[in-house]
Amino acid sequence: DSVDLGPYQHYMQKEIFEQPRAISDTLANIASFGPELFNATAQEWQKFDQVLILACGTSYYSACVAKYWIEDLAGIPTQVEIASEYRYRTSVPNPKTLIVVVSQSGETADTLAALRHAQSLGHELTLAICNVDSSAMVRETRWKFLTKAGTEIGVASTKAFTTQLVALYVLAISLAKRAGRITPEQEKSLLRELRHLPKALQAVLALEPQIIAWSTHFAKWENALFLGRGMHYPIALEGALKLKEISYIHAEAYPAGELKHGPLALVTEKMPVVTVAPKDELLEKLKSNMQEVKARGGKLYVFADHDTEIASSEGIQVIRLPEHYGNLSPILHVVPLQLLAYHTACALGTDVDKPRNLAKSVTVE
Ligand code: G6P
Repeated sequence: DSVDLGPYQHYMQKEIFEQPRAISDTLANIASFGPELFNATAQEWQKFDQVLILACGTSYYSACVAKYWIEDLAGIPTQVEIASEYRYRTSVPNPKTLIVVVSQSGETADTLAALRHAQSLGHELTLAICNVDSSAMVRETRWKFLTKAGTEIGVASTKAFTTQLVALYVLAISLAKRAGRITPEQEKSLLRELRHLPKALQAVLALEPQIIAWSTHFAKWENALFLGRGMHYPIALEGALKLKEISYIHAEAYPAGELKHGPLALVTEKMPVVTVAPKDELLEKLKSNMQEVKARGGKLYVFADHDTEIASSEGIQVIRLPEHYGNLSPILHVVPLQLLAYHTACALGTDVDKPRNLAKSVTVE
């Protein structure tokens, strides 16, 4: 990607709109799923029976989504840990663990140190999911999968995140195949669904004018809550992180089921509650969480799917995504949250691409 901004105002906006291309490139050489995509042999690929994913920041949230996918599709126990926590605690190493480091840069000090710590504990089965071919993590792991996001300049990660999700989904399907859980027909249809992502993303990006309309009001809030359930809980976390990073609005994300264990005390008519509400098996539960917010005067901003029966009314505004994407839904539902953070920050006039106090790559502890 060129450093030329083209029609965009900031690199972050350009990078949000590059996501269909980034995902298409990441998928370009994939004709089927399996160890070869990670540079592993079929024999080596049999050596682990659990997964531990280590990462920081936005990359950590992509790993959190992956836990839902890997356990659901492949049935392999999966843990996710913040790299700076793992490296300094006493853990119980099991050599039959696949250690995955997820990193845009491949140079984040804590993630690299966590990888080396795992190796020092005897872990030999290591995989990097990384956007930079020449990085330390790619050099120091046994197996690798390179995302093809291209250079990401905006400090707040966008296209690196969605391509990491694609890579982790490819890993989950590859592990499901290893477990004998998918037929050749299912494999083909899973690949077709992945290949449809760039087009589906374009349709989500077309929601930008509706999100701009929200952002001018949204910029007036001083705090925000983000809610999601299941594999969309990490998406709510990522939405809150994006908003904090670039607009400096204080934001927290909760799994919606936790609302009554604390955050409901914060809900008044001054609290916006951004809700990630895809049409999945948890939607009815999420709707009752939304009622709890509404009853206390909270202002709901809901991202729903096209055929979800949630209508805009007093205190509830709804933007609908054009399709329901099944397991791939987190990759689509994060995009309006990126746009909401971006346009809210623009409305506030912050330095979107270089937010205060933050660095693109944190190579010192
Ligand atoms: C910094 C960046 C974030 C990024 C995190 C991890 O905090 O500002 O955007 O998610 O580092 O970086 P990595 O390169 O390891 O993905």
